Amino acid sequence: MNKSTTLIAGGAGYIGSTLVNFLLKKNHKVICLDNLVYGKKSIIPFLKKKNFIFIKQDIRDYKKVKKIFSTYKIDYVVNLAAIVGDKQCKTISKIAYDTNFNGNTNLFNSAQECSVKKYIFASTCSNYGIAKPNGYVDEKSKLNPVSLYAESKIDSENFLLSQINKNLEILILRFATAFGVSFRTRFDLTLNSFTYEAIKNKKVGVFAKDTWRPYVHVKDIARIIYFAIINKKKNNNIIFNAGFTKSNLTKEDLAKKIVNILPKTSLNFDPNITDLRTYKVSFRKLENTFNIKQKYSIDFGIKEILLNIKKKLLTENEIKNNYLDRNCLNLLRFYKNEN
Ligand SMILES: NC(=O)c1ccc[n+]([C@@H]2O[C@H](COP(=O)([O-])OP(=O)(O)OC[C@H]3O[C@@H](n4cnc5c(N)ncnc54)[C@H](O)[C@@H]3O)[C@@H](O)[C@H]2O)c1
Repeated sequence: MNKSTTLIAGGAGYIGSTLVNFLLKKNHKVICLDNLVYGKKSIIPFLKKKNFIFIKQDIRDYKKVKKIFSTYKIDYVVNLAAIVGDKQCKTISKIAYDTNFNGNTNLFNSAQECSVKKYIFASTCSNYGIAKPNGYVDEKSKLNPVSLYAESKIDSENFLLSQINKNLEILILRFATAFGVSFRTRFDLTLNSFTYEAIKNKKVGVFAKDTWRPYVHVKDIARIIYFAIINKKKNNNIIFNAGFTKSNLTKEDLAKKIVNILPKTSLNFDPNITDLRTYKVSFRKLENTFNIKQKYSIDFGIKEILLNIKKKLLTENEIKNNYLDRNCLNLLRFYKNEN
């Protein structure tokens, strides 16, 4: 039987590198397309694997992207390539929109011209922005973006929705906030950074403690994307919230879970910093359609970060380099000639 080939744009990233690993284990051929904003370290473990091809390329360059699609026979495309996060997008706003919107359009148009079977787009639950405090939002709820990041994702969703009649199947996955260890572990994400602060300083600063977010382990994200790839049932209803309904928490709940595991931690609640974003999300549609259950809980994620720091598999240097401010600095450095 011929192996399927999946092109993962953004395959060197936090989610991307975990997905590469997952699909290689499932015997897929993987083409990783990435311009390596955060370096190459995350893909080194895969470079010698026979089913893995790496192409260093910027998705904003339509001609070069198109050439890749005419060179290789590609069955599935997963677009994870983006400038991710509100502050990151604000830091290099023009480049961020160009990447998140035009880059996605380039990939989709190329995929369509080269008879790819399925196009999976990574969107975000951030699109819900400010939701009513009571009850859950679902895929039909009104979107309330409060950042350029969410706006660029919503514009991309709308572009993809306008392409629905064509032959290429589209799936839009609005992911919850990720956590857990990957080959490039991000520390601008709440669970990861709170856990690190609890270990390092024995205290965690929490602002906007009552705001709700859904959380999902990066390995569960890879499982969800895999289910989306192999799912044969065609669905006209192409938008799915991607996470698990039981993992919606307020920031205070999350911080208290960390205290349960690291009881010497004190919590400092800061009432002066507010965050407009709050959303509690229903993932019933995904849970029912793909019949998928959560494998990696929030407690698992906290213990995993703890263990990786204890064993020095996550070094201080690596953690600091992936904190929010350093992340933005890395972006400014990488794009210094364009910004
Ligand atoms: N991490 C989360 O909590 C989360 C939540 C919801 C949605 N998402 C979405 O999932 C996707 C992956 O997120 P992540 O956390 O892995 O982010 P990441 O920043 O770790 O990965 C993004 C990858 O895209 C690459 N990239 C950026 N610009 C590019 C360009 N112009 N051309 C080619 N490659 C480019 C980067 O080098 C990086 O490897 C993003 O689309 C993001 O919006 C992430």
